[in-house]
Amino acid sequence: MRRIFLNGSMNIDGNTARLAKEVYQGLDYTHINLAEHHINQIGQDSGGQQDDFQKVIEQLIMADVIVIGTPVYWSSMTGYLKTFIDRFADALDAPLAGKRVFLLIQGTAPDDAIPYITNVIQHLCRRFRMNYMGLATNSKETTKLHNLMVNKKEKGR
Ligand SMILES: Cc1cc2nc3c(=O)[nH]c(=O)nc-3n(C[C@H](O)[C@H](O)[C@H](O)COP(=O)(O)O)c2cc1C
Repeated sequence: MRRIFLNGSMNIDGNTARLAKEVYQGLDYTHINLAEHHINQIGQDSGGQQDDFQKVIEQLIMADVIVIGTPVYWSSMTGYLKTFIDRFADALDAPLAGKRVFLLIQGTAPDDAIPYITNVIQHLCRRFRMNYMGLATNSKETTKLHNLMVNKKEKGR
C-alpha cells in the first residue's frame, strides 16, 4: 500500500502536516511538499526547462492513497495547490482511476473556504475517476477519516 501526503502549505511541518500525521496515525507515507518543488503556472514559458510537475504526478500515479492538505489562504486553497491542480490539464491521460483521496483543510476560521475547496477536489476526482473519501478540518475529524481509511467501524455509531 503506497500512501502520499500532498502538502499545499508553505510550512512543511505546520498545522496541515500535523493533520496529515493524525489521519495516517503511524502508517507509513511519503510527504510531498509542493513548496519544495518548482511547478510552473499553466501555459507559462519556462524557456525549455522542465519543472517538477511530472515528478510529482508520477508519485501520485504510484500511490494507492492520496491525502491532499491545504491551509486556507484568503478564503481559498493555497496558490501552491491551485497551480498544481491547474497543471492536470497537461496530464489528462494520467492513470489515477481508483485511487482513494482524502482532503484536509486547515485554517483559523475555514468555514467560508470549505465548500469551494471541497468542490475543486471532488471535481478533480470525478475527472480522473479517483474515489473522493471525505474531509477533515480538525483533530476530531481526522480520527474519523483515519477510521474510514483503515475501514474501522467507530464504536457507538
Ligand atoms: C496568506 C495567509 C492567508 C490566510 N488566510 C486565511 C483565511 O482566509 N482563513 C483562515 O481560516 N485562515 C487563514 N490563514 C491562516 C492559515 O490557514 C492557518 O494559520 C493554517 O493553520 C496554516 O497552516 P500551516 O501551519 O500548514 O501553514 C491564512 C494564512 C496565511 C499565511
